[in-house]
Amino acid sequence: MLHGNPVHSGAPPSAAAAAFHPLMSVLRSPRTLPRRVLLTSAGLIVSLLAGGWIHGPQSTFDTHGPVARAQLEVFYVTLWVTGVIFVIVAGALTYATLKFKARTEADEHAEPPPQSHGNPLVELSLIVASVAALVVIAVPTLRAIWYTYDVPEEDKPNAYQINAMGFQWWFRFQYPSEEVESQGIKGKLTLANELVIPVGRPVRINLRTYDVIHSFWVPKLAGKVDMIPNRANHLWLLAEKPGYYWGQCAEYCGESHAVMRFRVVALEENEFKAWVEAQKRPAREATGQQADFATYDTTPKVRNTAGWSSGFDANPLENWKKQQEIPAQEDVALIAKGRQLFQEKTCISCHAVRGHFDGGNPSAPDLTHVGSRTTIAGGLLETNAANVHRWITDPNGVKPGNKMFVGLPLGGSTMPGYMLFDYEKGTLTPHIQVNDAEGRALTAYLLSLK
Ligand code: CUA
Repeated sequence: MLHGNPVHSGAPPSAAAAAFHPLMSVLRSPRTLPRRVLLTSAGLIVSLLAGGWIHGPQSTFDTHGPVARAQLEVFYVTLWVTGVIFVIVAGALTYATLKFKARTEADEHAEPPPQSHGNPLVELSLIVASVAALVVIAVPTLRAIWYTYDVPEEDKPNAYQINAMGFQWWFRFQYPSEEVESQGIKGKLTLANELVIPVGRPVRINLRTYDVIHSFWVPKLAGKVDMIPNRANHLWLLAEKPGYYWGQCAEYCGESHAVMRFRVVALEENEFKAWVEAQKRPAREATGQQADFATYDTTPKVRNTAGWSSGFDANPLENWKKQQEIPAQEDVALIAKGRQLFQEKTCISCHAVRGHFDGGNPSAPDLTHVGSRTTIAGGLLETNAANVHRWITDPNGVKPGNKMFVGLPLGGSTMPGYMLFDYEKGTLTPHIQVNDAEGRALTAYLLSLK
C-alpha cells in the first residue's frame, strides 16, 4: 500500500512505493543508466507510434503523390547508408572496448596492442568507403532535387496553376485561370485555407508572401518550400487519388505560426470542375425553407481549446463534400440580420463577399463561399456554428495576435480590427464588439454562404 505521497511529504520513496512504481525506481537509480536509456527510447518509440506518427494526418511516411515519394526515398537511402555506417562503427567500437578492456592490475600497465595508425591500406580504404557512401547518397538526392523542383517538361502543358500567398497566419489560394466578375469588377477566383485540386494532374503552386517568411508544406504530397518576401518561389505536387490532406506553415512566422494551417482537397476531374463553377458564382441568397437556427453552446472557451471533432476526421473527404451541400432549411430572418450586421460592424472593409459586398481588402480572406469550407481561422477550427461563433466573438482567444483582432496596417494608417491602435498614444481601444445575439446572426449569415 502506498502511504502518503512521497513527493509532497518530502520522505524518501518507501519500498512499497518503489514496488508500486517499478519504472520510477529504475529511472531514479544511478546504477541503471543503460536501462534508463533503453526504457526512455522504448517509451519514445511507443508514444510516437501510438501518437499516429507513422500514419497520422501529417505523416511524411504515408505518401500520396510522386513528389512526396521522391523526398521519402531520399530519406530512406540516407537512413540505410548512415545506418550501415552506424552498425559498422558501433560494432568495431564495442568489439575493441570489450576485447581490450583492462581486467587485471597487470592489464593496466601492459603494452598497447599493435597499432594500425598510418597503415596506407586502411587509410585509403576508409577514404574510398567514405566517398562511395557520399556518392550513394548524392545520386538519388540530386535526382530528387531535379525532379521535385518543377513539373516534368512533358507534363507542363497539362499542369494546373495556383498562386498561393502566405499571410500572418493563413494561406490565400488564387486560381489564375478562373475569372470571376461581380458588379463589373473582374478578378481571379480567390479563396482561403482550402486548396482544392484535380486528382492525377500536376499542380504548380507559385509561392509568395504578403509579410514575413512562411513555408508551404503538405506532408503527404510535397514540401517544404519557403514563401520569401521579394522572391518568386514555386513547387509542384500531384495527388494520385482523391483525398483530404493536411497542410501546415513550416517556418516560424510569428506568435500564431503553430496554428497556421490549411487543407488540400483532391477531387476527380468532373467533381473539380463542378466545384470551380460553384465557387465562381457570387454569394448566394438564403432561400431555404424557414427554420429555426439550431441551438449551440456559446459558453466562452479557454484559449487553445481544440476546434476539431473526431467524427469529422473519420471521413474528412466525405464530410468536405457534405459541407458543399446547400441546406434545405435555414433561418432566413436571422441570416438577413447577420448580413446587415456584417456591414454595420465594418467587416466589409476587409472581407469581400462577392455579390453582397464587393471590394474588400486582398489581405483578408474572401468569404463569398466561406460556408462551403470545412475549416475557419486559418485551418484551425472545424466549420460549425459553435466554432464560427467562438471565432467572431473572441478572435484573440482562438488565435492570439491575429490581424482581424489587432487590425491591419494600411499605407500609414490602420484598417481597424476588433481593436483600434492609436499611433500617437500607442494605445489599443476596443473597436468592434460582437455580443452573443449579434454573434448568432453573423454565424447564420456566414454559414449560409455555401
Ligand atoms: Cu506562417 Cu509559420
